[in-house]
Amino acid sequence: MNDFVYSYPVKVYFGTDAAKKAMSQELGKYGKNVMLAYGGGSVKKSGVYDAVTAMLREAGKEIVDFPGIMPNPTYAKVQEGARLAKEKNIDLILAVGGGSVIDCCKIISAQAKTEQDIWEMEFEEHVYPTEFVPMGAVVTASGTGAEMNNGAVITNEEKKIKTGVLGAFASFAALDPEYTVSLPARQVISGAFDTLSHCMETYFGSPRTANVSDEINEAIMRNVIRNLRLVAEDLQDMEARRELMWDSAMAENGILKIGKVTDFQAHQIEHQLGAYTDCNHGCGLAVIHPALYRHIYTGAVERFAHFAEAVWSVSGEGKSREETALAGIQALADFIKEIGLPTNFKELGIEAEEEMLRVVAGSSNIQAGCCKKLTADEIFEILMECR
Ligand code: NZQ
Ligand code: ZN
Repeated sequence: MNDFVYSYPVKVYFGTDAAKKAMSQELGKYGKNVMLAYGGGSVKKSGVYDAVTAMLREAGKEIVDFPGIMPNPTYAKVQEGARLAKEKNIDLILAVGGGSVIDCCKIISAQAKTEQDIWEMEFEEHVYPTEFVPMGAVVTASGTGAEMNNGAVITNEEKKIKTGVLGAFASFAALDPEYTVSLPARQVISGAFDTLSHCMETYFGSPRTANVSDEINEAIMRNVIRNLRLVAEDLQDMEARRELMWDSAMAENGILKIGKVTDFQAHQIEHQLGAYTDCNHGCGLAVIHPALYRHIYTGAVERFAHFAEAVWSVSGEGKSREETALAGIQALADFIKEIGLPTNFKELGIEAEEEMLRVVAGSSNIQAGCCKKLTADEIFEILMECR
């Protein structure tokens, strides 16, 4: 167990009427001008937009719409939002959407408070923003846990980089499973797989002796797997959707990471793949995970064997630890197929030409916390096996 300091800045309202409860408690703390940020229009179709604007009006707020935040949000969209927030003297940014809308707003919140370019500041000067326009989040698509942290995943189209940028924490987050009801099946499943990926990437980070965070993590992983099976059978199983929504938050609220160095190597590869193909995040991870794990398990055989037994109920009887570890990775691969996620780039629907994969491999961050430190050549091999 490494040393740590723990405190959490996000106030979570979970469950039925969460947005209503959050707004009635929180809106009074901020000024009049609210920027209402959302995506490509699902909130208008689902009625969430009408419900949230009614709450804002009732609280006497001036609403400034900021629509059109795309999946895999771009840095150009961040700049557009920041200009609007400055021009309209925004007092509160309300992100209504999934990970993409929430992430975009985290950086708008920081960029609206400085004349310096946030990308340059963070990646060239290694200085991180400390002043933010306050923000809140109303979650309409769960899985990323983006509402719980201050890391935003942003695509810089000019630089061809999709990566984590540090921005604001939401001061409050409303998690009402009913607000996610209209999500298409593919997004529900890929979002929940993203949660499982966050758990695994945290679990396999070093140090690789289990601590209390890992044991909680095993419980969350089992819960995600059980409930993912239930929603794959019946998309409208609301009890399962509720569990998955909280699993998503649990994977990103810091608890599973306490006392650990995390891995997130699959994410680094998927993010660069996303920069070149704009693929769906959870689906990209589903393709990459088994291939990556077959390459790295040798760096942590016992840990992978324990994962097989504790999470996938693989019996270790009559098997070597290496065989047990491999059986766990196979169980993960079988599960991905069972819940209908893509198992290769063809099924993911992307053109995975060798030349592009070479560039993706060469530009993926290599994680020190990964149980086997990869080279760009190994990442390329992994990507080639995903075709
Ligand atoms: O844009 P609209 O029209 O709203 O449609 C969205 C979008 O097309 C739709 N959607 C959202 N809520 C809906 C809905 N459709 C119907 N009903 C609803 N209630 O779903 C589509 C995908 O939305 P998006 O926000 O992109 O999905 P997700 O939540 O999976 O977020 C993905 C982004 O988050 C990043 C990913 O890289 C990707 O950019 N991540 C952020 C993380 C973080 N901040 O901690 C961690 C993750 O690892 C991840 O990298
Ligand atoms: Zn993710």
